[in-house]
Amino acid sequence: MKILVLKSSGNLSGSSAMLADEFKRGTEENGHEVTVYELMRKDIRPCTGCNACGMAGRCVQNDDFETELKDLIRGTDMMVFAMPVYYYNWPAQLKAVVDRFYSFTTELTYMHKKAALLAVAWDNTDTVFKVTKDYYDTICDYMQFEDMGTVLGGGSGTPGMTKRSGYPEKAYELGRSI
Ligand SMILES: Cc1cc2nc3c(=O)[nH]c(=O)nc-3n(C[C@H](O)[C@H](O)[C@H](O)COP(=O)(O)O)c2cc1C
Repeated sequence: MKILVLKSSGNLSGSSAMLADEFKRGTEENGHEVTVYELMRKDIRPCTGCNACGMAGRCVQNDDFETELKDLIRGTDMMVFAMPVYYYNWPAQLKAVVDRFYSFTTELTYMHKKAALLAVAWDNTDTVFKVTKDYYDTICDYMQFEDMGTVLGGGSGTPGMTKRSGYPEKAYELGRSI
C-alpha cells in the first residue's frame, strides 16, 4: 500500500514528527511504501473560495498543492495527518490542505482512501483533543475515508516530554497494525 504522511509542524524534529517517524517505521516493516510530505517546506495557500474549480477542476492557485500534492494524494492509498494541536484544533497549514480538497472533492470521495490521525499537545486533559478528533471523524465521514486509527499524545509538549510519554511507541504499533 502507498501511504502519504502529511507532517504539519515547522518543528521538523519535533513531537508530531516523532510520532510520524515511528508510524512510518512500523508501516515500512510491513512492506508499505511511505512518502513523507513536510507542509512547512511547501507553498500551499488557503482556498480563496473563488469557485473557479467548480469543485472538479484546476485550482487557479499554481502552488505546491495544485502542481504536486494533489497528484500525490490521488496516487496514495492512505493519508496520515500528523499535527500539533493549535488552540484545540488543527494547525492552519494542515487545514489549508483540507480546504484545498475542494477542487477535487467528489473525485477524492470516490477513492475511499484510508486515513490516520497522529496528534500531540502540551496539555494532558480530557478536552484537549476534543475538537481535533471530532473534526477528523467528521472529515473521514464526509470524504469517505476509512479511519485506520488515531494516536492522541497528551502531555507531549516538547520532544523530551514526548519521548517519555509512550506515544511514539503507540504510533509505531499503529503503523505495525496497518
Ligand atoms: C500556536 C500554538 C498553539 C498551541 N495550542 C495548544 C493547545 O491548544 N493545547 C495544548 O495542549 N498545546 C498547544 N500548543 C502546544 C503544542 O501543541 C505542543 O507544544 C506540541 O508538542 C508541538 O508539537 P511539534 O513539536 O510537533 O511542533 C500550542 C503551540 C503553539 C505554537
